[in-house]
Amino acid sequence: MRSLLLAGAESVWLREKAMRRPFMRRAVSRFMPGETVDEALGACRRQQEQHGTGTILTHLGENLSSLAEAEAVTSDYLELIDRIAIEKLDVQVSVKLTQLGLDLGLDACDQNLQRLVVRAESRSNVVWIDMESTKYVDSTIALYRRARERSSRVGLCLQSYLRRSMADLEALLPLGPAIRLVKGAYREPANLMFASKMEVDENYFRLAARMLQPGVPNGTFLGVGTHDARLVDRIRVEIAARGADRAAYEFEMLFGIQRPLQARLVAERAPLRVLISYGEFWFPWYMRRLAERPANVLFVMKSLFAG
Ligand code: FDA
Repeated sequence: MRSLLLAGAESVWLREKAMRRPFMRRAVSRFMPGETVDEALGACRRQQEQHGTGTILTHLGENLSSLAEAEAVTSDYLELIDRIAIEKLDVQVSVKLTQLGLDLGLDACDQNLQRLVVRAESRSNVVWIDMESTKYVDSTIALYRRARERSSRVGLCLQSYLRRSMADLEALLPLGPAIRLVKGAYREPANLMFASKMEVDENYFRLAARMLQPGVPNGTFLGVGTHDARLVDRIRVEIAARGADRAAYEFEMLFGIQRPLQARLVAERAPLRVLISYGEFWFPWYMRRLAERPANVLFVMKSLFAG
């Protein structure tokens, strides 16, 4: 089921059909408060006011075909960073480098990323870089390095399903990086990944524990990006055992997923940030959410028959 859903995520035919279907739009609203930036910012404000938690915004969209498109995405994010500051919201942004032109040239993408990081720096904000499929890992890390050498207001996502991630983390640690750990959401060649969920989870824990070890450089920041309650609890025990500074970590979860766990963390005063997606290009992203929990397909079915 997972492979089928992830293959579906890459199908243009399916995307064009699905995005026109009202029942798909209804189903997707469970994970996405709205397509527009106003709807997304409204949800961020509610999250802050009602739950006291900060958020991360990401504008959905993936590979682009022209530098003009990458420029437009960059301008939208620049405007967003300004709006967040003007509206005094605790909202960071998370970007996919393919949206900033990674397929069209490393330097052009670097320039767009640099513009965002400079703006984030001037607005006391942070730009996170998502990790996409394996073919982009080397270039994404290379651009993160360049950005991190210029500013500390940039973070990078690493995926625990990849065998290479511990070596990548070790190589980045001397920078005092901000790293968001996730399990990984793409369809990847088997030889590059851990085979079982147990191994992926164990690697996740090892990566998190490595970041919490004494002696990591100042500025190292751990974003625990998972909805896995077992892992969250295990990492919280490690955080307590290490006496980690509260400013050096946070839990990060997607809007609408594992709400009871999010509420528990808020009640227990653990630092939590919720990632909210918006934009019209939600189909591949939504298929990856279904693949994470095929039981979600039932919600699509229910939406099909509702109203
Ligand atoms: P796991 O899949 O084991 O789920 C644990 C439990 O959470 C499940 O048992 C279920 O109860 C619940 N759950 C998880 N997903 C659900 C869903 N879709 N619907 C309903 N319940 C669900 N990936 C990537 O490759 N690159 C990236 O840049 C990012 N960025 C990112 C940021 C943040 C803040 C988060 C939280 C996640 C990502 N991801 C990502 C996605 C990540 O790789 C992964 O696919 C999902 O987080 C699901 O994995 P879990 O760690 O939640 O564990």
